Amino acid sequence: MIAIGTSACAPDERNTLMAPNPTMPGSAPLIPGPGNGRRVLLAYFSRAGENYFYGGRTNLDVGNTQVLADEISTLIRCDVHRIEAADPHPASYDATVARNVREQDINARPGIANPLPSIDQYGTVLLASGIWNVRAPMIMTTFAESYDFTGKTIHPVTTHAMSGLGTTERDYARSCPGATVGEGLAVRGEEVRDAGPDIESWLRRTGLLQSRSSATG
Ligand SMILES: Cc1cc2nc3c(=O)[nH]c(=O)nc-3n(C[C@H](O)[C@H](O)[C@H](O)COP(=O)(O)O)c2cc1C
Repeated sequence: MIAIGTSACAPDERNTLMAPNPTMPGSAPLIPGPGNGRRVLLAYFSRAGENYFYGGRTNLDVGNTQVLADEISTLIRCDVHRIEAADPHPASYDATVARNVREQDINARPGIANPLPSIDQYGTVLLASGIWNVRAPMIMTTFAESYDFTGKTIHPVTTHAMSGLGTTERDYARSCPGATVGEGLAVRGEEVRDAGPDIESWLRRTGLLQSRSSATG
């Protein structure tokens, strides 16, 4: 049996994308949901362990992209799927860099331990990961090539040291023919815990989050 790692953002919100969102403390009432009214999937890959930190190294109990994904999922209604590598990555930063170089050099498609059976129910897919050597880890290409994204909107989401979105917009456009690649979000890994306002601004610009007053006129 395939283990499905998808979790809802909140237990009672899985199938109610267009219902009003609870008001956030200290902010205007919010209405989540894309314009096309279809469900949103947030699929992300994130690696805990030794990582880059302001030119040095730190040990992350929770990967930066997971922190970002958690924040996004508190702001919008979406299904969340954490992509797990069939062959887990080492905790060592240098060993992970070396493995990634090998995988990029051979244009590998690393296996996914918990593939989703389908993404048909989603109109919008947020593809989130760190940036590894200026692109998404190759396992994100495995994921992107596993499904038919025709008619869907993809938003690349990254955490990074200095490369921003890297080549993710171009790469996902290539891997997902027929999809529209919308505005991406890039957050520095070191700053991900303070990125709430930037995340919210991006969600508003993309239409994934709307003020109730502007949504209802
Ligand atoms: C193998 C590897 C390669 C990396 N390459 C880059 C890079 O090319 N550009 C960049 O800005 N950051 C790079 N980083 C830093 C990560 O993108 C950054 O720490 C990110 O937040 C990690 O996300 P995660 O903790 O969710 O896995 C790299 C990190 C690793 C482990």
